[in-house]
Amino acid sequence: MSKNHSYVLGINAYDHDVSACLLRDGEIAYAIEKERITRHKHAGGFFQEVVDYCLQAEGIMLDDVDLVVRNCYVLPVDELEVRMIYQGDMPDRELAQTSKSPLYLPKSNKVVTVSHHLAHAYSAFAVCPFDEGVVMVVDGVGNYSSDIKEPGQLTEGINPLARESESYYRFKGSELETLKKVWLQPCRGMLSDEFFNMDGLGALYSRVSSYIFADWNKCGEVMGLAPYGRPNNFRSLLEMKGDELHVPEWDAEFNQPWTPDGVKKWEASSSMRHWEDMAWRVQHDAEEVLLARARWLRETTGARNLCLAGGVALNCVANGRIVREAGFDNVWIQPAAGDNGISIGCAYYGRLALQKKPRSFVMKQATLGVAYPDEAVRRAGNPLLVSHQTFDGPDQSICREAAKLLAEGNVFGWFQGRAEFGPRALGNRSILGDPRRAEMKDILNKRVKFRQAFRPFAPIVAYERAKDIFVGEDESPFMLRAKQVRPEWKDRIPAIVHVDGTARVQTVRREQNERMYDLLMDFEKLTGVPVLVNTSFNIKGEPIVETPQDAMNCFIYTGIDYLALHDTLVAKNALYKVLAPFIRIYYESRYHSRDETD
Ligand SMILES: [Fe+2]
Repeated sequence: MSKNHSYVLGINAYDHDVSACLLRDGEIAYAIEKERITRHKHAGGFFQEVVDYCLQAEGIMLDDVDLVVRNCYVLPVDELEVRMIYQGDMPDRELAQTSKSPLYLPKSNKVVTVSHHLAHAYSAFAVCPFDEGVVMVVDGVGNYSSDIKEPGQLTEGINPLARESESYYRFKGSELETLKKVWLQPCRGMLSDEFFNMDGLGALYSRVSSYIFADWNKCGEVMGLAPYGRPNNFRSLLEMKGDELHVPEWDAEFNQPWTPDGVKKWEASSSMRHWEDMAWRVQHDAEEVLLARARWLRETTGARNLCLAGGVALNCVANGRIVREAGFDNVWIQPAAGDNGISIGCAYYGRLALQKKPRSFVMKQATLGVAYPDEAVRRAGNPLLVSHQTFDGPDQSICREAAKLLAEGNVFGWFQGRAEFGPRALGNRSILGDPRRAEMKDILNKRVKFRQAFRPFAPIVAYERAKDIFVGEDESPFMLRAKQVRPEWKDRIPAIVHVDGTARVQTVRREQNERMYDLLMDFEKLTGVPVLVNTSFNIKGEPIVETPQDAMNCFIYTGIDYLALHDTLVAKNALYKVLAPFIRIYYESRYHSRDETD
């Protein structure tokens, strides 16, 4: 593409969930997370791959980019890069690669840093459908107050080593005003675990995640475990005293953390009741704090529209309560609410705050990856093990055929169009199943996902039918809010109903995803149910598939029955069935020790 456009590149740099986002004339052209390319979940480090991906997709060079904006929540990016050299934090391979990059220790004034919560805030309000409203950013930890240099960030009088925990803003058009910030006070730590002992909402939730799952980044699993806990059977973990958040200290009674040793099974632990009760408590307390904050924001500003970003905004149960109970008319949540979405916020900070351009784009879709050509799909074949059938004639439809096979109980890999940006598969890189079958959850776990049995699977539903099946009329295009399943539907779609009667719903309009919508309609014609089970398309422990070849690998190594690659239906052939036990042994040895993913 010729340089007739204005380009801004945003980068989430170096720590977890490295990503890049390229704006073309103020619209998101492409965005990608490093994990999708390297195939390592939450990949950190240098950002060469994600920058190259965006530039190549657009057909431009780095010199064509007018402005690059970066953030890392740890330190300002240029300072981090200097430290990485002498602290030896950069692996030799990446150091060799990056030392040649003009984006590594850049000399150009076209490359700037923005602070963390401000980037989260821009990732939401800059692309939301509202002209004015308020923004709520809550995450685990952001930048040090002394590193926040943008004007109006309420850092006066704040301890220079305090770090961002919550930030609240009001916006009108392209203008953003900071209303309130809640800081994590510096704390003493043991080894490198200071973060887990910080007195903030997101940090505490991550501490509970570490305690129960030995991983700070399993907050979604804590949320899924919470309904199994007994109400009020665990002491409070977060409290509001007036408008101040108080995090009671942990003491010796917190003596049952999960410590994986490769032998014990988490599911069989004698601490399960303790963990379930704790999960209930932290989820309950987090919801109460978030609701109090949202109501305060509503009452003090009179705003009707709320935007959410920051990792805590991935808590779809709390989001559901904010939507229903906080008093706003409209709530919009950035689908990449975690730090992968920082690159979007960086790019829009550059566009709106630095280049002083007006807002001009609403993020209606999260499909921001490249669209692979049909030729790439044909090359992804594995002629020895699979057979293909293409449905591209006037009377042929991959949707109709897939609906029939799904209704017969088959598990489907569904690969279409551009990949989703963010943690959720939203119908272009999805594994699909029949929600009418109660056993579908076990089938998916046994054949593909290997997740803990307590974790629910999510439904994808045609927008027009959603209110008949789930309580509430609000849309949920990014699978970011939980809703109650209506009583008369619970037995009809048991595979997606969580133990508390809720589901993490994704609604689909035809204009949002024509092929997925048609598939849902074809499935409804056969079954009377416009709903499918939708889970992310990935091998256990790996990120969501990016390329057609990634999809083919996942299909081959797992118990998925059929694969739709654009218009091509892929099935396993007779030779595959002979070799399946050996393929399974290979898969188990290669993947089974890894963590499961969503
Ligand atoms: Fe963050």
